Amino acid sequence: MEKKPINIGIVGVSGRGSGMLELMLDVEDVICTAVCDIVPARAENGKRIVENHPNYTGYPVTVYTDYKEMFRKEKLDGVYIATTWITHSAVAVDAMKNGIHAGIEVGGAASEGECRQLVSVSEETGKFCMLMENCCYDRKEMALYKMVKEGLFGEIVHCEGGYRHDLRDEIVLGRENIHGRLYNFMRRDGELYPTHQLGPICKLLDINRGNRMLTLVSVSSKARGLNEWIKNNRGEDYDLYRYPFNEGDVVTTVIKCANGETITLTHDCCLPRPYSRDYNVQGTKGIFREATEGELRFAIEGVTESTHAWEDFNARIEEFEHPLWDEYRNAGVKKGHGGMDFLVLSAFAEAVRLDAEPPIDVYDTAAMMAITYLSEQSASMGGMPVPVPDFTDGRWIDREPYRRGKYCLNEVCTDCFSDLKEAKE
Ligand SMILES: NC(=O)c1ccc[n+]([C@@H]2O[C@H](COP(=O)([O-])OP(=O)(O)OC[C@H]3O[C@@H](n4cnc5c(N)ncnc54)[C@H](O)[C@@H]3O)[C@@H](O)[C@H]2O)c1
Repeated sequence: MEKKPINIGIVGVSGRGSGMLELMLDVEDVICTAVCDIVPARAENGKRIVENHPNYTGYPVTVYTDYKEMFRKEKLDGVYIATTWITHSAVAVDAMKNGIHAGIEVGGAASEGECRQLVSVSEETGKFCMLMENCCYDRKEMALYKMVKEGLFGEIVHCEGGYRHDLRDEIVLGRENIHGRLYNFMRRDGELYPTHQLGPICKLLDINRGNRMLTLVSVSSKARGLNEWIKNNRGEDYDLYRYPFNEGDVVTTVIKCANGETITLTHDCCLPRPYSRDYNVQGTKGIFREATEGELRFAIEGVTESTHAWEDFNARIEEFEHPLWDEYRNAGVKKGHGGMDFLVLSAFAEAVRLDAEPPIDVYDTAAMMAITYLSEQSASMGGMPVPVPDFTDGRWIDREPYRRGKYCLNEVCTDCFSDLKEAKE
C-alpha cells in the first residue's frame, strides 16, 4: 500500500530554515504545503525551494507571514521552526494548540515560564515538541554514545563541551542582515547557546531518565571582542562602536548532576578563533577529547595502547560506529553539517509519521533550553549556584519506557538495524 505523505510546514526561512527545508524534502514521504516568514521575500523564497525541489509533485504551496494564520488554515502534521531564539517557544506552543507536532531549532529559553509552558501545552494537547539538536546525530557523538553505553569509558564522571564559533560579523551586522543574534548579545549575559554539546551530553548521562541536572554556576568574562571587530571593520563612526555589550566574550558554566557528574559548557562567539565544540568525555576507564575541530583523541584502558598517551580517534572511528551511521554511510551521507542535519530531520519526520514520542522529547527540550536563563541568573550574581528545575516533576526517577527505534537516543537499538546485519553477513 502506498504510504500517505506527511505534511511538515516551516516557520522561519532565513539561512538555517532554507537549508533545512531543502533537506527536509529529501526525507522519504515528506511534503511541505506551507511556508512562513515575517519577511515576505524569505517566505516566497521558501515556496521556490519547495517548487524547485526534485521531489516536488505539484501540490499547492501557500506563503504566510503570520504563523497563527498558517496553523489555523493548513492541515499540517508537523512544523519545523527556525525563527529567532526568543520566538521558538511561542510558535511551538501555538502549533501544538492547533494539533501540530513541533520541531524547534536550537537556542536557549529566556524564562522558566517559557519552558513550563512548552511542557504543559505538550502534555495537554498530546502533541510533541522536539528540540532539533542535530549534534546528537553527529558521527562522533553517536560513536561516543555507543562506546559509553557499552561501558568502554567505565563510569562517566565529567563531560565538557562548548559553542566556540567566531560569529562577530553575524552578530554585529544583525540589523543590516535581519539576523536575530544581535539584541541578545547587546542585552543578555549568559550561556546563550547551550545545546549543541549539552544535547549529546544529556543523552550520555541519561538526563530525565534516572539522572537530572541539579544546579549550575556561570561566570562571564568581560566583553571586548565585538567592539574591537567594529573598530577594525566598520570604523569608529559605526553607532555600536562604543556600545557596552552585555554578553561576556567567554561564558563558562558548570552543571552538577544528581548522579554526581559535572558538565562544563563554554560559550565563546565574540573573539577570533577556529570553530570547535570542544567535546570531552571522561570516565573511570578513559577519556575522549576533541582537541580542535576534527582533531579527536582518546585514551582508554584496554582499548588504546596506554592511558598516558593520546591516540587518534578518527583513525579508529569505524570500530565504534553507531549502527545508524553504518547504515547512513552505506546509503550515502547527505550534505548539512557533515550529515547530521538529515538524520535529525529524519528522526523528527519519523516521530511525526508515527504520531509518537520523539527521541528528544519536551522534557529534554525544556531542560536543555533552561540552561540559558539559569546561566543569566547565575552570571548576574557573579557565579552564584542556581537550581535547575525538574520539568518532569519527579518522573525522571522512574520514567515510563521510551520508544525504541533507529533514531532512539536513550539506547543503541541494534536489533532495529536487522537489514544492515543481513547485508553484512
Ligand atoms: N542546528 C544548527 O546547526 C543551526 C545552525 C544555524 C542556525 N541554527 C538556529 O536556527 C535558527 C535560525 O537561524 P538563522 O541563522 O536562520 O537566523 P535568522 O535570524 O537569520 O532567521 C530567523 C528567521 O525567522 C524569521 N522570523 C522571526 N520571527 C518570526 C515570526 N514570528 N514568524 C515568522 N518568521 C519569523 C525572521 O524573519 C528570519 O527570517 C536559530 O535558532 C539558530 O540558532 C541552528
